[in-house]
Amino acid sequence: MSSGKKTISGFSKLSKRGKIKWIAEHFFKEPEHVVRELMSYWHGDEEQQKVLDGFSENTISNFPMPYGVAPNFLINGKAYAVPMVIEESSVVAAASSAAKYWLTRGGFKTEILGTKKVGQVHFFWNGRAQKLESVFDDLKIQLRKDAADITRNMDKRGGGILDIELIDFTEKEKGYYQLRATFETCDSMGANFINSVLEQFANTLDRFMADHPIFDEDERDVEVIMSILSNYTPECLVRTWVECRVEELGHFPGGYTSAAMAKKFCKAVRIAHLDPHRATTHNKGIFNGIDAVVLATANDFRAVEACGHTYAARDGQYRSLSHCRVENGVFRFWMDIPLALGTVGGLTKLHPIAKRSLELLGHPSAEELMQIIAAVGLAQNFAAVRSLVTTGIQQGHMKMHLQNILNHFKASEIEAEKAQAFFADRLVSFTGVREFLEGVREGASLSVKP
Ligand code: MEV
Repeated sequence: MSSGKKTISGFSKLSKRGKIKWIAEHFFKEPEHVVRELMSYWHGDEEQQKVLDGFSENTISNFPMPYGVAPNFLINGKAYAVPMVIEESSVVAAASSAAKYWLTRGGFKTEILGTKKVGQVHFFWNGRAQKLESVFDDLKIQLRKDAADITRNMDKRGGGILDIELIDFTEKEKGYYQLRATFETCDSMGANFINSVLEQFANTLDRFMADHPIFDEDERDVEVIMSILSNYTPECLVRTWVECRVEELGHFPGGYTSAAMAKKFCKAVRIAHLDPHRATTHNKGIFNGIDAVVLATANDFRAVEACGHTYAARDGQYRSLSHCRVENGVFRFWMDIPLALGTVGGLTKLHPIAKRSLELLGHPSAEELMQIIAAVGLAQNFAAVRSLVTTGIQQGHMKMHLQNILNHFKASEIEAEKAQAFFADRLVSFTGVREFLEGVREGASLSVKP
Protein backbone atom coordinates (compact mmCIF):
# COMPACT_ATOMS: atom_id res chain seq x y z
CA MET A 1 0.00 0.00 0.00
CA SER A 2 1.41 3.38 -0.89
CA SER A 3 0.90 6.03 1.76
CA GLY A 4 -0.09 8.51 -0.95
CA LYS A 5 -2.95 6.35 -2.23
CA LYS A 6 -6.25 7.29 -0.65
CA THR A 7 -8.51 4.77 -2.40
CA ILE A 8 -8.69 1.03 -1.92
CA SER A 9 -10.57 -1.97 -3.25
CA GLY A 10 -11.55 -4.68 -0.80
CA PHE A 11 -11.67 -2.40 2.26
CA SER A 12 -14.65 -4.32 3.64
CA LYS A 13 -12.64 -7.58 3.47
CA LEU A 14 -9.88 -6.24 5.75
CA SER A 15 -9.98 -7.19 9.43
CA LYS A 16 -11.05 -4.43 11.80
CA ARG A 17 -7.45 -3.79 12.80
CA GLY A 18 -6.50 -3.81 9.12
CA LYS A 19 -9.16 -1.19 8.37
CA ILE A 20 -7.99 1.06 11.20
CA LYS A 21 -4.37 0.68 10.13
CA TRP A 22 -5.16 1.56 6.51
CA ILE A 23 -7.24 4.59 7.53
CA ALA A 24 -4.65 5.78 10.05
CA GLU A 25 -1.73 5.40 7.66
CA HIS A 26 -3.41 7.08 4.71
CA PHE A 27 -5.32 9.93 6.31
CA PHE A 28 -3.58 10.92 9.55
CA LYS A 29 -0.32 12.55 10.52
CA GLU A 30 0.20 10.44 13.66
CA PRO A 31 -1.07 7.00 12.62
CA GLU A 32 0.04 5.13 15.72
CA HIS A 33 -1.66 7.62 18.00
CA VAL A 34 -4.86 7.47 15.91
CA VAL A 35 -4.90 3.65 15.98
CA ARG A 36 -4.56 3.70 19.77
CA GLU A 37 -7.22 6.36 20.12
CA LEU A 38 -9.78 4.63 17.88
CA MET A 39 -9.16 1.31 19.61
CA SER A 40 -9.56 2.90 23.03
CA TYR A 41 -13.26 3.34 22.21
CA TRP A 42 -13.80 -0.36 21.49
CA HIS A 43 -16.12 -1.99 23.98
CA GLY A 44 -14.27 -3.85 26.74
CA ASP A 45 -16.50 -6.87 26.18
CA GLU A 46 -15.81 -8.51 22.81
CA GLU A 47 -19.31 -9.96 22.53
CA GLN A 48 -20.88 -6.54 23.08
CA GLN A 49 -18.56 -5.04 20.50
CA LYS A 50 -19.69 -7.67 18.00
CA VAL A 51 -23.30 -6.64 18.60
CA LEU A 52 -22.43 -2.98 17.95
CA ASP A 53 -20.40 -3.83 14.84
CA GLY A 54 -23.37 -5.80 13.54
CA PHE A 55 -25.49 -2.61 13.34
CA SER A 56 -23.40 -1.22 10.50
CA GLU A 57 -20.59 -1.99 8.08
CA ASN A 58 -16.88 -1.20 7.90
CA THR A 59 -16.91 -0.28 11.59
CA ILE A 60 -13.56 0.68 13.04
CA SER A 61 -14.62 2.10 16.39
CA ASN A 62 -17.56 3.44 18.39
CA PHE A 63 -18.62 7.08 18.42
CA PRO A 64 -19.47 8.12 21.98
CA MET A 65 -22.33 10.53 22.59
CA PRO A 66 -23.57 11.76 25.95
CA TYR A 67 -26.49 9.80 27.39
CA GLY A 68 -28.46 12.10 29.70
CA VAL A 69 -31.73 11.96 31.59
CA ALA A 70 -34.45 14.60 31.92
CA PRO A 71 -36.46 13.79 35.07
CA ASN A 72 -39.84 15.09 36.26
CA PHE A 73 -41.84 14.63 33.07
CA LEU A 74 -45.46 14.30 34.08
CA ILE A 75 -47.38 12.97 31.08
CA ASN A 76 -51.06 12.11 31.45
CA GLY A 77 -50.52 11.93 35.20
CA LYS A 78 -47.60 9.46 34.96
CA ALA A 79 -44.06 10.47 35.92
CA TYR A 80 -41.15 9.67 33.62
CA ALA A 81 -37.38 10.18 33.69
CA VAL A 82 -36.61 10.49 29.99
CA PRO A 83 -33.34 9.27 28.41
CA MET A 84 -31.78 11.65 25.87
CA VAL A 85 -28.80 11.19 23.57
CA ILE A 86 -27.59 14.56 22.34
CA GLU A 87 -24.31 16.40 21.93
CA GLU A 88 -25.66 19.95 22.23
CA SER A 89 -25.17 21.70 25.58
CA SER A 90 -28.31 22.89 27.34
CA VAL A 91 -30.85 20.67 25.54
CA VAL A 92 -31.24 18.21 28.43
CA ALA A 93 -31.12 21.07 30.95
CA ALA A 94 -33.84 22.92 29.02
CA ALA A 95 -36.06 19.82 28.76
CA SER A 96 -35.62 19.15 32.48
CA SER A 97 -36.42 22.74 33.34
CA ALA A 98 -39.61 22.76 31.22
CA ALA A 99 -40.63 19.37 32.65
CA LYS A 100 -40.25 20.68 36.21
CA TYR A 101 -42.07 23.90 35.34
CA TRP A 102 -45.13 22.01 34.03
CA LEU A 103 -44.94 19.38 36.79
CA THR A 104 -46.67 21.81 39.14
CA ARG A 105 -49.11 23.03 36.46
CA GLY A 106 -50.79 19.77 35.51
CA GLY A 107 -48.02 18.29 33.38
CA PHE A 108 -48.23 17.35 29.71
CA LYS A 109 -51.33 15.85 28.18
CA THR A 110 -51.30 13.71 25.05
CA GLU A 111 -53.66 11.89 22.75
CA ILE A 112 -52.99 9.44 19.90
CA LEU A 113 -54.82 10.64 16.78
CA GLY A 114 -53.85 7.73 14.55
CA THR A 115 -51.25 4.99 13.99
CA LYS A 116 -51.50 4.34 10.23
CA LYS A 117 -48.33 3.75 8.22
CA VAL A 118 -48.11 4.07 4.45
CA GLY A 119 -46.43 2.16 1.63
CA GLN A 120 -46.40 2.55 -2.15
CA VAL A 121 -45.80 0.49 -5.27
CA HIS A 122 -44.97 2.99 -8.02
CA PHE A 123 -45.65 1.68 -11.52
CA PHE A 124 -46.12 2.72 -15.12
CA TRP A 125 -48.84 1.16 -17.25
CA ASN A 126 -50.27 2.11 -20.61
CA GLY A 127 -53.92 1.53 -20.05
CA ARG A 128 -57.04 3.30 -18.92
CA ALA A 129 -57.50 3.76 -15.18
CA GLN A 130 -61.22 2.81 -15.43
CA LYS A 131 -60.34 -0.62 -16.75
CA LEU A 132 -57.93 -1.29 -13.88
CA GLU A 133 -60.44 0.16 -11.41
CA SER A 134 -63.14 -2.21 -12.71
CA VAL A 135 -61.05 -5.20 -11.57
CA PHE A 136 -59.36 -3.52 -8.62
CA ASP A 137 -61.44 -5.39 -6.02
CA ASP A 138 -60.22 -8.69 -7.50
CA LEU A 139 -56.66 -7.40 -7.48
CA LYS A 140 -56.97 -6.36 -3.83
CA ILE A 141 -58.16 -9.83 -2.85
CA GLN A 142 -55.19 -11.35 -4.70
CA LEU A 143 -52.72 -8.89 -3.16
CA ARG A 144 -53.88 -9.75 0.35
CA LYS A 145 -53.93 -13.47 -0.40
CA ASP A 146 -50.40 -13.54 -1.79
CA ALA A 147 -49.07 -11.49 1.13
CA ALA A 148 -50.75 -13.69 3.75
CA ASP A 149 -47.55 -15.53 4.70
CA ILE A 150 -45.86 -12.22 5.44
CA THR A 151 -48.80 -10.67 7.30
CA ARG A 152 -49.79 -13.71 9.40
CA ASN A 153 -47.85 -12.74 12.55
CA MET A 154 -48.75 -9.07 12.30
CA ASP A 155 -52.44 -10.04 11.82
CA LYS A 156 -52.23 -12.10 15.02
CA ARG A 157 -50.84 -9.06 16.89
CA GLY A 158 -53.85 -7.04 15.74
CA GLY A 159 -52.14 -5.29 12.83
CA GLY A 160 -51.59 -5.91 9.14
CA ILE A 161 -52.79 -4.37 5.89
CA LEU A 162 -55.57 -1.83 6.48
CA ASP A 163 -56.38 -0.70 2.97
CA ILE A 164 -55.07 -0.69 -0.60
CA GLU A 165 -55.92 2.06 -3.09
CA LEU A 166 -55.15 2.69 -6.72
CA ILE A 167 -53.86 6.23 -7.22
CA ASP A 168 -53.98 7.65 -10.73
CA PHE A 169 -51.12 10.07 -11.32
CA THR A 170 -51.52 10.15 -15.11
CA GLU A 171 -52.49 13.82 -15.13
CA LYS A 172 -49.06 14.61 -13.71
CA GLU A 173 -47.08 11.96 -15.60
CA LYS A 174 -48.31 9.82 -18.51
CA GLY A 175 -48.83 6.20 -17.44
CA TYR A 176 -47.89 6.71 -13.75
CA TYR A 177 -49.95 4.92 -11.09
CA GLN A 178 -49.48 3.84 -7.49
CA LEU A 179 -50.74 1.13 -5.27
CA ARG A 180 -50.95 2.99 -1.99
CA ALA A 181 -51.46 0.81 1.05
CA THR A 182 -51.97 1.65 4.69
CA PHE A 183 -50.76 -0.57 7.52
CA GLU A 184 -51.07 -1.04 11.25
CA THR A 185 -47.74 -2.27 12.59
CA CYS A 186 -48.59 -2.34 16.33
CA ASP A 187 -45.48 -1.89 18.49
CA SER A 188 -42.98 -2.14 15.65
CA MET A 189 -41.94 0.74 13.43
CA GLY A 190 -42.78 -1.71 10.66
CA ALA A 191 -40.36 -0.71 7.89
CA ASN A 192 -39.22 -4.27 7.11
CA PHE A 193 -42.74 -5.62 7.35
CA ILE A 194 -44.17 -2.97 5.03
CA ASN A 195 -41.37 -3.25 2.48
CA SER A 196 -41.68 -7.04 2.34
CA VAL A 197 -45.42 -6.78 1.77
CA LEU A 198 -44.94 -4.13 -0.93
CA GLU A 199 -42.40 -6.20 -2.83
CA GLN A 200 -44.88 -9.08 -2.77
CA PHE A 201 -47.60 -6.68 -3.99
CA ALA A 202 -45.38 -5.76 -6.95
CA ASN A 203 -45.01 -9.42 -7.96
CA THR A 204 -48.73 -10.02 -7.64
CA LEU A 205 -49.54 -6.90 -9.67
CA ASP A 206 -47.21 -8.00 -12.43
CA ARG A 207 -48.78 -11.46 -12.65
CA PHE A 208 -52.36 -10.21 -12.28
CA MET A 209 -52.00 -7.82 -15.21
CA ALA A 210 -50.30 -10.45 -17.35
CA ASP A 211 -53.02 -13.05 -16.70
CA HIS A 212 -56.32 -11.20 -16.31
CA PRO A 213 -58.59 -11.70 -19.37
CA ILE A 214 -59.95 -8.15 -19.22
CA PHE A 215 -56.64 -6.73 -20.43
CA ASP A 216 -55.73 -6.59 -24.10
CA GLU A 217 -52.36 -7.79 -25.30
CA ASP A 218 -50.83 -4.28 -25.17
CA GLU A 219 -52.08 -3.75 -21.59
CA ARG A 220 -50.42 -6.76 -20.01
CA ASP A 221 -47.08 -5.13 -19.27
CA VAL A 222 -46.62 -3.24 -16.03
CA GLU A 223 -43.35 -1.50 -15.28
CA VAL A 224 -42.87 -1.51 -11.51
CA ILE A 225 -40.46 1.29 -10.69
CA MET A 226 -40.13 0.67 -6.96
CA SER A 227 -41.90 -0.63 -3.89
CA ILE A 228 -41.15 1.19 -0.65
CA LEU A 229 -42.79 2.51 2.49
CA SER A 230 -43.43 6.23 2.70
CA ASN A 231 -41.83 7.97 5.65
CA TYR A 232 -44.58 10.56 5.41
CA THR A 233 -47.15 9.25 7.88
CA PRO A 234 -49.55 12.14 8.60
CA GLU A 235 -52.04 9.67 10.07
CA CYS A 236 -49.54 8.25 12.54
CA LEU A 237 -50.14 11.29 14.67
CA VAL A 238 -49.99 12.33 18.30
CA ARG A 239 -51.29 15.49 19.97
CA THR A 240 -49.62 16.96 23.05
CA TRP A 241 -50.45 20.06 25.04
CA VAL A 242 -49.89 22.00 28.23
CA GLU A 243 -52.33 24.53 29.66
CA CYS A 244 -52.95 26.58 32.75
CA ARG A 245 -54.59 29.83 33.77
CA VAL A 246 -52.46 32.78 32.67
CA GLU A 247 -51.91 33.94 36.25
CA GLU A 248 -50.53 30.49 37.11
CA LEU A 249 -47.69 30.99 34.66
CA GLY A 250 -45.83 32.90 37.38
CA HIS A 251 -43.14 35.49 36.90
CA PHE A 252 -40.33 35.30 34.39
CA PRO A 253 -36.76 36.57 34.18
CA GLY A 254 -36.58 40.16 33.05
CA GLY A 255 -39.51 41.07 35.28
CA TYR A 256 -42.21 39.77 32.92
CA THR A 257 -45.62 39.30 34.45
CA SER A 258 -47.48 36.15 33.48
CA ALA A 259 -49.88 38.09 31.24
CA ALA A 260 -47.05 39.85 29.40
CA MET A 261 -45.16 36.60 29.07
CA ALA A 262 -48.20 34.72 27.68
CA LYS A 263 -48.73 37.43 25.05
CA LYS A 264 -45.11 37.59 23.98
CA PHE A 265 -44.80 33.80 23.89
CA CYS A 266 -47.85 33.49 21.60
CA LYS A 267 -46.44 36.19 19.31
CA ALA A 268 -43.18 34.25 19.01
CA VAL A 269 -45.05 31.09 18.03
CA ARG A 270 -47.18 33.09 15.59
CA ILE A 271 -44.00 34.41 13.91
CA ALA A 272 -42.93 30.80 13.34
CA HIS A 273 -46.25 30.24 11.53
CA LEU A 274 -45.68 33.22 9.28
CA ASP A 275 -42.01 32.95 8.36
CA PRO A 276 -40.28 29.76 7.15
CA HIS A 277 -36.88 31.07 8.28
CA ARG A 278 -38.05 31.31 11.86
CA ALA A 279 -40.22 28.17 11.52
CA THR A 280 -37.16 26.09 10.61
CA THR A 281 -35.27 27.16 13.73
CA HIS A 282 -38.38 26.89 15.89
CA ASN A 283 -39.00 23.32 14.69
CA LYS A 284 -35.29 22.50 15.01
CA GLY A 285 -35.70 23.29 18.69
CA ILE A 286 -38.61 20.81 18.86
CA PHE A 287 -36.47 18.15 17.18
CA ASN A 288 -33.62 18.81 19.67
CA GLY A 289 -35.85 17.04 22.17
CA ILE A 290 -37.50 14.56 19.84
CA ASP A 291 -34.32 13.30 18.17
CA ALA A 292 -32.56 12.88 21.50
CA VAL A 293 -35.21 10.44 22.77
CA VAL A 294 -35.62 8.81 19.36
CA LEU A 295 -31.87 8.11 19.40
CA ALA A 296 -31.86 6.94 23.02
CA THR A 297 -34.51 4.36 22.12
CA ALA A 298 -32.72 3.33 18.88
CA ASN A 299 -35.52 4.55 16.67
CA ASP A 300 -35.00 6.03 13.20
CA PHE A 301 -34.40 9.77 13.70
CA ARG A 302 -33.99 10.41 9.96
CA ALA A 303 -37.46 9.02 9.31
CA VAL A 304 -38.96 11.03 12.17
CA GLU A 305 -37.26 14.25 11.01
CA ALA A 306 -38.20 13.81 7.34
CA CYS A 307 -41.81 13.15 8.25
CA GLY A 308 -42.06 16.04 10.72
CA HIS A 309 -40.74 18.57 8.22
CA THR A 310 -43.07 17.39 5.45
CA TYR A 311 -45.96 17.65 7.89
CA ALA A 312 -44.86 21.17 8.84
CA ALA A 313 -45.19 22.12 5.16
CA ARG A 314 -48.48 20.30 4.52
CA ASP A 315 -50.43 23.43 3.48
CA GLY A 316 -47.72 24.46 1.01
CA GLN A 317 -45.68 26.64 3.37
CA TYR A 318 -43.24 25.43 6.00
CA ARG A 319 -44.66 26.47 9.39
CA SER A 320 -44.30 25.98 13.12
CA LEU A 321 -45.35 22.56 14.34
CA SER A 322 -46.53 24.03 17.63
CA HIS A 323 -49.38 26.46 18.35
CA CYS A 324 -50.19 28.81 21.17
CA ARG A 325 -53.39 30.54 22.27
CA VAL A 326 -54.63 32.56 25.20
CA GLU A 327 -58.40 32.26 25.50
CA ASN A 328 -60.70 33.02 28.43
CA GLY A 329 -57.67 33.55 30.63
CA VAL A 330 -56.17 30.15 29.79
CA PHE A 331 -52.71 29.77 28.22
CA ARG A 332 -52.62 26.73 25.93
CA PHE A 333 -49.55 25.51 24.02
CA TRP A 334 -49.89 22.45 21.83
CA MET A 335 -48.58 20.46 18.90
CA ASP A 336 -49.72 17.67 16.58
CA ILE A 337 -46.79 15.68 15.28
CA PRO A 338 -46.49 12.50 13.20
CA LEU A 339 -44.12 10.00 14.83
CA ALA A 340 -43.54 6.52 13.40
CA LEU A 341 -41.80 4.62 16.19
CA GLY A 342 -41.23 1.13 17.45
CA THR A 343 -40.61 -0.45 20.82
CA VAL A 344 -40.08 -3.95 19.44
CA GLY A 345 -37.96 -5.01 16.48
CA GLY A 346 -35.19 -3.06 14.81
CA LEU A 347 -32.42 -2.18 17.24
CA THR A 348 -34.76 -1.38 20.12
CA LYS A 349 -33.90 -4.56 22.01
CA LEU A 350 -30.51 -5.25 20.43
CA HIS A 351 -28.81 -2.03 21.40
CA PRO A 352 -27.81 -2.55 25.03
CA ILE A 353 -28.45 1.05 26.10
CA ALA A 354 -31.61 1.47 24.02
CA LYS A 355 -32.93 -1.56 25.86
CA ARG A 356 -32.20 0.23 29.15
CA SER A 357 -33.88 3.40 27.84
CA LEU A 358 -37.07 1.45 27.23
CA GLU A 359 -36.80 -0.11 30.68
CA LEU A 360 -36.28 3.37 32.19
CA LEU A 361 -39.49 4.47 30.45
CA GLY A 362 -41.35 1.45 31.86
CA HIS A 363 -41.39 -0.68 28.68
CA PRO A 364 -43.78 1.57 26.76
CA SER A 365 -45.86 0.47 23.79
CA ALA A 366 -45.16 2.31 20.53
CA GLU A 367 -48.21 4.51 21.24
CA GLU A 368 -46.95 5.41 24.71
CA LEU A 369 -43.50 6.19 23.30
CA MET A 370 -45.11 8.48 20.68
CA GLN A 371 -46.75 10.38 23.53
CA ILE A 372 -43.58 10.64 25.62
CA ILE A 373 -41.50 11.85 22.69
CA ALA A 374 -44.09 14.38 21.55
CA ALA A 375 -44.24 15.79 25.09
CA VAL A 376 -40.44 16.10 25.20
CA GLY A 377 -40.53 17.94 21.85
CA LEU A 378 -43.12 20.38 23.19
CA ALA A 379 -41.16 20.85 26.44
CA GLN A 380 -38.02 21.62 24.45
CA ASN A 381 -39.91 24.14 22.35
CA PHE A 382 -41.43 25.73 25.45
CA ALA A 383 -38.01 26.12 27.09
CA ALA A 384 -36.44 27.59 23.94
CA VAL A 385 -39.20 30.11 23.26
CA ARG A 386 -39.41 31.06 26.96
CA SER A 387 -35.69 31.88 26.92
CA LEU A 388 -35.85 33.64 23.57
CA VAL A 389 -38.62 36.02 24.61
CA THR A 390 -37.13 36.77 28.04
CA THR A 391 -33.37 36.51 28.62
CA GLY A 392 -32.30 35.32 25.15
CA ILE A 393 -30.79 31.87 24.81
CA GLN A 394 -27.11 32.77 24.88
CA GLN A 395 -26.98 33.37 28.60
CA GLY A 396 -28.03 29.82 29.49
CA HIS A 397 -26.47 28.23 26.45
CA MET A 398 -23.01 29.70 26.97
CA LYS A 399 -23.11 28.90 30.70
CA MET A 400 -23.55 25.25 29.72
CA HIS A 401 -20.94 25.57 27.00
CA LEU A 402 -18.41 27.03 29.45
CA GLN A 403 -17.35 23.54 30.58
CA ASN A 404 -16.67 22.53 26.94
CA ILE A 405 -14.45 25.58 26.48
CA LEU A 406 -12.67 24.85 29.76
CA ASN A 407 -12.11 21.25 28.63
CA HIS A 408 -10.74 22.54 25.33
CA PHE A 409 -8.11 24.55 27.25
CA LYS A 410 -7.48 21.59 29.58
CA ALA A 411 -8.41 23.70 32.62
CA SER A 412 -7.61 22.14 35.98
CA GLU A 413 -10.33 21.70 38.58
CA ILE A 414 -9.20 24.84 40.42
CA GLU A 415 -9.06 26.87 37.18
CA ALA A 416 -12.54 25.62 36.24
CA GLU A 417 -13.92 26.63 39.65
CA LYS A 418 -12.42 30.10 39.28
CA ALA A 419 -13.84 30.42 35.77
CA GLN A 420 -17.33 29.32 36.89
CA ALA A 421 -17.27 31.98 39.61
CA PHE A 422 -15.89 34.65 37.29
CA PHE A 423 -18.40 34.00 34.50
CA ALA A 424 -21.41 33.58 36.83
CA ASP A 425 -22.60 37.11 35.94
CA ARG A 426 -20.56 37.75 32.79
CA LEU A 427 -21.03 36.88 29.14
CA VAL A 428 -19.20 33.64 28.25
CA SER A 429 -17.19 33.63 25.03
CA PHE A 430 -14.38 31.46 23.69
CA THR A 431 -11.96 34.41 23.67
CA GLY A 432 -13.11 35.62 27.08
CA VAL A 433 -12.46 32.20 28.64
CA ARG A 434 -9.07 31.90 26.91
CA GLU A 435 -8.02 35.33 28.18
CA PHE A 436 -9.30 34.55 31.66
CA LEU A 437 -7.31 31.29 31.81
CA GLU A 438 -4.20 33.01 30.44
CA GLY A 439 -4.54 35.54 33.25
CA VAL A 440 -5.02 32.86 35.90
CA ARG A 441 -2.08 30.84 34.57
CA GLU A 442 0.16 33.88 34.31
CA GLY A 443 -0.73 34.87 37.85
CA ALA A 444 0.00 31.34 39.07
CA SER A 445 3.38 31.21 37.32
CA LEU A 446 4.31 34.66 38.67
CA SER A 447 3.38 33.62 42.19
CA VAL A 448 5.72 30.59 42.12
CA LYS A 449 8.67 32.62 40.80
CA PRO A 450 11.38 33.22 43.45
C1 MEV B 1 -30.96 25.67 19.39
O1 MEV B 1 -30.45 24.37 19.21
C2 MEV B 1 -32.46 25.65 19.26
C3 MEV B 1 -33.13 27.01 19.27
O2 MEV B 1 -32.54 27.85 18.28
C4 MEV B 1 -34.59 26.81 18.99
C5 MEV B 1 -35.38 28.08 18.79
O3 MEV B 1 -34.81 29.08 18.34
O4 MEV B 1 -36.59 28.03 19.04
C6 MEV B 1 -32.93 27.70 20.61
